[in-house]
Amino acid sequence: MTQVSKAAAIGGGVIGAGWVARLIENGIDVAVHDPAPGAEQRMQAVLDNAERAYAKLTLAPRRKKGSVSFHGSIAAAVAGAELIVESVPERLDIKQKVYAEVEAAAAPQAIIASSTSGILPTGLQAKMAQPERLLVAHPFNPVYLLPLVELVGGARTAPETVERAKAIYTGLGMHPLHIKKEIEAFVADRLLEAVWRECLWLVTDGIATTAEIDDAIRYGFGLRWAQMGIFETYRIAGGEAGMRHFMAQFGPCLKWPWTKLTDVPEFNDELVDLVSTQSDAQSGSYSIRELERIRDDNLIAILQALKVKNWGAGKALAAYERGLVDAAGAAAGAVDLAQPIVTLERRVPAEWTDYNNHMNESRYLQCFADASDALLRLIGVDADYVAGGGSYFTVETHIRHLDEVAALEPVHVTTQVLAAEGKKLRLFHRLYHGDAKGGDGRLLATGEHMLIHVSLKTRSAAEPAPAIAAKAAELAATHAGLERPEGAGRAVGQAR
Ligand SMILES: NC(=O)c1ccc[n+]([C@@H]2O[C@H](COP(=O)([O-])OP(=O)(O)OC[C@H]3O[C@@H](n4cnc5c(N)ncnc54)[C@H](O)[C@@H]3O)[C@@H](O)[C@H]2O)c1
Repeated sequence: MTQVSKAAAIGGGVIGAGWVARLIENGIDVAVHDPAPGAEQRMQAVLDNAERAYAKLTLAPRRKKGSVSFHGSIAAAVAGAELIVESVPERLDIKQKVYAEVEAAAAPQAIIASSTSGILPTGLQAKMAQPERLLVAHPFNPVYLLPLVELVGGARTAPETVERAKAIYTGLGMHPLHIKKEIEAFVADRLLEAVWRECLWLVTDGIATTAEIDDAIRYGFGLRWAQMGIFETYRIAGGEAGMRHFMAQFGPCLKWPWTKLTDVPEFNDELVDLVSTQSDAQSGSYSIRELERIRDDNLIAILQALKVKNWGAGKALAAYERGLVDAAGAAAGAVDLAQPIVTLERRVPAEWTDYNNHMNESRYLQCFADASDALLRLIGVDADYVAGGGSYFTVETHIRHLDEVAALEPVHVTTQVLAAEGKKLRLFHRLYHGDAKGGDGRLLATGEHMLIHVSLKTRSAAEPAPAIAAKAAELAATHAGLERPEGAGRAVGQAR
């Protein structure tokens, strides 16, 4: 759970917009201030990318999105905000001036989080009236997908600020890494700078092109780094004897001429031209927008693969999804159970459509499967219950495809419980066009599903826990008073 409902974003460039995307995805309203002409349109492009990415990242029930509003002054943007995210250009004087304006208008308990890539927080907070509430929260682009955020406090940052920030960023699906000693560029950017310097040497010396260096990373150690980092990887490289053997074997190389890391190539127009020309040859056939989308799709694939293994960054995604499921379960407590229950509301992702430009038939089942999951959460089959060894498996499904729906159009599902007896749970879903509270109400499909309660230990049918059985039976009794749905109990090919 995030504990913030309103945030402010000061600076809405690449990083500010990425933060806004992550914040609104988690139900937080964000007030933005960025004086640059066109800032709003540029941010929209990032928000569109993020929406596309989140629709692919998870099938867990996403939170109701927060709102974005633009404001002409810092004072107006920070009013009432509990978290203030500063992502203005990387200059101490600009940032300090922004904090002075923020402090004049912000609530005293609001956290001020700087996105700085490397300025020391002690410097950032030097002129502040309430320095204890400032910390660095250094994210990585794209902020809406990468879980890492380095948290760095300055000499005058209160420990509670860091603790509150940890909870907030965890709730946003991130992995807050508390860097306990401040140092310029923190941890990740120091590593990146070292690699970047060596890459520039290799290009300058004509050893390898930008494309060749990228291949050296992405076909090899980049894959290892994404899942184990460097120390765990090298431990394995040491064989049975592990890290000690690895260090004994490769330690002497540190003194060989394998590295120029203490030295930098001269940064001049010639270097910029050389790198830019090679980069154009390497990637110029794609627009930046196309590259962003390729990057996002690849990152999503990696995150999802790691989620299955509950490893590295995949652990953060798995924990985030458990939080989403729990939050959806808690929200379900407030629904009107006397009517078919709204169990799904979403827009049709573009990639769910086929060559006819309408939603692919398999996605009708996806909608109904997600609706069944929502219904199960409502009767208490949540992450804890499943972890305890109980769940429902679907054993039979009958879908009628009645009408088409195009990409990005809103749909919703209502669910009626036809029967709940012992291990059996029979559900009838209706998929409608439009939001639950609006739209043309066109019926797009119906789905009838028989679910059987199982023990996840024996993988065979088993009675549900008494509380689950009672809740399911109560719902079935309530829905028995509703009209029997047209089409319930039909077989394939039967006329209306
Ligand atoms: N780009 C990255 O990969 C990256 C990664 C992590 C952290 N950061 C850090 O994030 C911060 C922002 O970087 P960016 O890449 O988004 O830069 P950017 O140039 O894309 O965005 C900066 C934005 O701040 C706005 N701005 C300037 N003065 C302002 C003011 N007084 N009030 C409000 N807005 C103002 C600008 O109009 C611009 O839109 C920097 O501190 C940077 O070091 C960048």
